[in-house]
Amino acid sequence: MALRNILTQEEPRLLKHSRMVTDFNERLHILLDDMRETLIHAGGVGLAAPQVGVLRRAVLVLETNVPEGEDEYIIELVNPEIVEADGEQFGPEGCLSVPDVYGMVRRPEHVRVRAQDRYGKPFEVEGVGLTARAFCHEIDHLEGKLFLSVAERILDPEELAEPEEEAADTEETD
Ligand code: NI
Repeated sequence: MALRNILTQEEPRLLKHSRMVTDFNERLHILLDDMRETLIHAGGVGLAAPQVGVLRRAVLVLETNVPEGEDEYIIELVNPEIVEADGEQFGPEGCLSVPDVYGMVRRPEHVRVRAQDRYGKPFEVEGVGLTARAFCHEIDHLEGKLFLSVAERILDPEELAEPEEEAADTEETD
């Protein structure tokens, strides 16, 4: 495995449409392994292949909604598509390709995603809360869309801590 360079905002490849993965070969597996290492190293909750310069439909999402005592784990999704979305959440969102910038983005609270694994086997996975947000955000990357284009408002640096606290409060108070 190797760390890959994460492209940032001014890189035109981030604004391009990514193509379907058709070969579930060694090259794909190396890409996914490298993306995994890069995501863990960067401490993010998701990473899309175009962010490391590969215009193919492959993303990783960190599942953080795990029972206490269990480890968070990374979900690999090849050719993902959202097949069901409901509810709504509105909160701060950032991106490894847009360092230190956060914006308020509206997303579904729950999504179901259909994808293939690294061997081409189809599966479905659901996400709620942050995981649903990450699925939407990463799949947007495959269309060349950054969160900046869907954010309703970009946060001032001094606001950054505040909305997250508010969100946590909201969750605790039914
Ligand atoms: Ni991103």
